[in-house]
Amino acid sequence: MSAMKGKICVITGSNSGIGKETAIGLAKMGATIVMVVRNQERGEKARTEIVKQTGNDSVDLMICDLSSMSSIRHFAAEFKKKYRRLDVLVNNAGASFSKREVTHEGFERNFAVNYLGPFLLTHELLDLLKSSAPSRIINVSSGLAKNGKVDLDDLQGEKNHTRTRFYSPSRAPAYDNTKLMLMMFTYELARRLKGSGVTVNVLMPGFTATNLGKSSGSLSSYIMFKMVRPMQQSARKGAETSIYLASSDDVKDITGKCFAKKKEVRTCPVSYDEELQKRLWSKTESMLGLAPDRSML
Ligand SMILES: NC(=O)c1ccc[n+]([C@@H]2O[C@H](COP(=O)([O-])OP(=O)(O)OC[C@H]3O[C@@H](n4cnc5c(N)ncnc54)[C@H](OP(=O)(O)O)[C@@H]3O)[C@@H](O)[C@H]2O)c1
Repeated sequence: MSAMKGKICVITGSNSGIGKETAIGLAKMGATIVMVVRNQERGEKARTEIVKQTGNDSVDLMICDLSSMSSIRHFAAEFKKKYRRLDVLVNNAGASFSKREVTHEGFERNFAVNYLGPFLLTHELLDLLKSSAPSRIINVSSGLAKNGKVDLDDLQGEKNHTRTRFYSPSRAPAYDNTKLMLMMFTYELARRLKGSGVTVNVLMPGFTATNLGKSSGSLSSYIMFKMVRPMQQSARKGAETSIYLASSDDVKDITGKCFAKKKEVRTCPVSYDEELQKRLWSKTESMLGLAPDRSML
C-alpha cells in the first residue's frame, strides 16, 4: 500500500506500545517515519523491527526527552535542519508517575511528559506543519481524562500532592489531569488553526497492553497492570485510531474533535470550557517562556 508515500510522519514514543504500532501501520502505507524516542538503544531495536516487518526502510530515528523542554527545542531545531516538511505529528509519548517527581527544569514529571512536552513540541514544529499543509496533528490522550481536573493555581500538584488527591499507588490522578489538559489544548489549538490547513484531533486509544505503568515507579501499579493484562486490547488494536487519524481521507477536514475506536466521541463537559482552555493556554505559554509574539497564532 502506498497511500502515505511521500508523507513525513513524526511519532513520539514510537519504540514501544501504541506508538510503535502506529509507526508500523503508517510505514506499511509507505510513509517516511521519524521515530522520536528518548533512548537510542531501545529506539534502534524498534527501528530494526519496524523496517523488517514493513519492508519500508524510510524509518529515521531521532532522540528527544519529552520531559525536558531544552531537549524538545534541540530536537525541533535538528529536525528542521534535516527535513523541509512535516505532514503528520503524532504526540503519542506518555508516562504515568505515581510519586511526585520534578524534572531538572522544575516541572512535575506527569505534567512535563504528557502535557507541556507535546505543547512545546507542537509549538516548535508548527511553522513547518503550516508550510506543509494540508497537515495533521494527533494528540494521544486517555479515557482517564474524564477524572481529571485543571486547577490553574496548582497545575503541577504542588499543593494537592497527598496520595489521595494527586497520586495514589495504583492510579495517578496527576496523569488524568495532564490528559485532560492535552484534550483542552487540542480544542483551543484547533480554533487557533482554523483556515490554516492544519488539523488537530485528540484520541483515546482504549485500555491497551503496553509498557505504560511500568515506568510509574510504583510496584503495586506494575502488579495491577499485569493482573489486568487479559482485559487489555493489543497494542496493534490500540494504534488503530492514531493510524486512522493520521492517514484516512474520511477525516482530512475534521479538526478539534476527539476519537475513540475510529469514531468521533464527546468528552467530559469541562474539556469544552473555552474560557478555561484559553487561561490554561496563556498560563502554559508563560511557564514555557513563550513571548506572545512567538506564541502559536
Ligand atoms: N496503554 C493504555 O491502556 C493507554 C490508555 C490510554 C492512553 N494511553 C496513552 O497512549 C500513549 C502511548 O502509551 P503506551 O500505552 O503505548 O505506553 P508505552 O508502551 O509505555 O509507550 C510510551 C512511549 O512513550 C515514551 N516516553 C515516555 N516518557 C518519555 C519521555 N520523557 N521522552 C520521550 N519519550 C517518552 C516511551 O519511551 P520508553 O520506552 O523509553 O519509556 C514509550 O516509547 C501514551 O500517551 C499513553 O498515555 C495508553
